[in-house]
Amino acid sequence: MPTTANWLDDAVFYEIYPQSFKDTNADGIGDLRGIIEKLDYVAYLGCNAIWLSPCFVSPFRDAGYDVSDYCHVAPRYGTNEDLRRLFDEAHSRGLRVILDLVPGHTSSDHPWFLASTRATENEFTDRYVWTDNVWKDVRGMGVLKGISERNGSVATNFFSHQPALNYGYAHPDPAEPWQQPVDAPGPMATRQAMKDVMAFWLALGCDGFRCDMAHSLVKEDEGEQATIEVWQDLRAFLDETYPEAILISEWGNPDHSLQGGFDMDFLLHFGPSHYNDLFRVERPFFAGEGDVSAFVCRYEESRAASDGKGLMCIPSGNHDMDRLAGHIPAELLEMCFAFLLSMPGAPFIYYGDEIGMDHVRGLHSVEGSYWRTGARTPMQWDSSLNAGFSSAPADELYIPLDPNPARPTVAAQLDDEDSLLHRVRRLIEIRRAHPALQSKGDVEFVFAEKDAYPLAYVRREVGADGEVLEGGEQVLVVLNPSATPAAFSLPEGVTPGETIYEFGSPVSVGGRTVTVPARSAGFFLVG
Ligand code: NOJ
Repeated sequence: MPTTANWLDDAVFYEIYPQSFKDTNADGIGDLRGIIEKLDYVAYLGCNAIWLSPCFVSPFRDAGYDVSDYCHVAPRYGTNEDLRRLFDEAHSRGLRVILDLVPGHTSSDHPWFLASTRATENEFTDRYVWTDNVWKDVRGMGVLKGISERNGSVATNFFSHQPALNYGYAHPDPAEPWQQPVDAPGPMATRQAMKDVMAFWLALGCDGFRCDMAHSLVKEDEGEQATIEVWQDLRAFLDETYPEAILISEWGNPDHSLQGGFDMDFLLHFGPSHYNDLFRVERPFFAGEGDVSAFVCRYEESRAASDGKGLMCIPSGNHDMDRLAGHIPAELLEMCFAFLLSMPGAPFIYYGDEIGMDHVRGLHSVEGSYWRTGARTPMQWDSSLNAGFSSAPADELYIPLDPNPARPTVAAQLDDEDSLLHRVRRLIEIRRAHPALQSKGDVEFVFAEKDAYPLAYVRREVGADGEVLEGGEQVLVVLNPSATPAAFSLPEGVTPGETIYEFGSPVSVGGRTVTVPARSAGFFLVG
């Protein structure tokens, strides 16, 4: 199993949704040059890595997660040369860039798919999951019927315009010979095609990939073992060619994904992690009246199951979820970041969350966004035309801006030392200055009880072997987003010393009892 790339240890990621970040050619859609223009901002915030959502040629029926050419930048964002320049400009500022790899499906417009629909056998006949009869269904999956010259239906992976690439079946049914084993020539050619795509972008300068629906490759793969093995093979290929390249999975189940050789797996709004309990259920823990215990319990189980194979990472949000600020009161957003930026695994900040951009309700679907549109509105840079996002007429913006006249902007928050932006920046600075708080550092939960506050944990510096470093740094983190003071008892050997971060009112320690005032938090070096 690979060792997690070293640069991940102090990485703090910023997710950029290219459509909505910065438009430089007044077409109402963000572009790569816009991102290059704003790299200084990302670096100023303290992030040192960027996840760029798909920017490849696509008919955009799922905002680019429906790729029709893996090796070309979509003209609306720029050119491959712009992307190469983005990598170079980012690297010169100490920022890494990971791209979005969509290995599970393509657009139905992809030339591979069009070739695969033909009656005559060709290189792409087995690139997708085709049955041998147009009326057949595919167990557990959507299908397209009646769109091909060949006699067959084809499985879809997400929306119906996203046919599933063929990585084979874990246990092919001999009665259904169209179900191919994972090592059949078709599935092996699909795998090779993904290796080629990765190598292409790594050669141009990218630093790794966020892998879309990484769990979805092999069909009828109960237990996900065959999919894990496909990823082990892809990882082994990277280890030979680009060992520093990282892979982060959209899997939501680290117990499985990390066995596949991923450096990190996201804890997400789906999967077993209870991530939603923190920020997005009806009564989220960080809104002050929720329960964190199921999350912590599951987190501990996953840590034990993944046994140091890789990391789990927790995003502030992403382009698929409601914005954080749509569920958490403004005065508690900083507390969420205090948590996100003090947990193991590299944190991910979704563009605009650092200024508290709101979830905009009531918008219609744009390019397959449906329930997600409100999280994809243009970045709010300043108070100029279109909040500084674009100089196109307002009604030509990709998605309309948040209409709230009091919407937050980067410019206003830069001018206010007490703003969320400055607080998040400070938290990133603290994280990056303290080895105990970084991605690989250990965590021990010291108070995480059912329906109770606060949440308290100790982070500990680890050595190169991943073991807690004797005499290394230790930081106690206490977080109380509830409206009443909360107390807990310190375990033996944990004595809080110097305060390195404080939010709300000061935390007090009397004997072994720590009392955390309402809506307050602190980080303390442990003496
Ligand atoms: C997950 C992506 O994050 C989402 O935006 C997309 O629609 C689906 N995968 C399908 O690729």
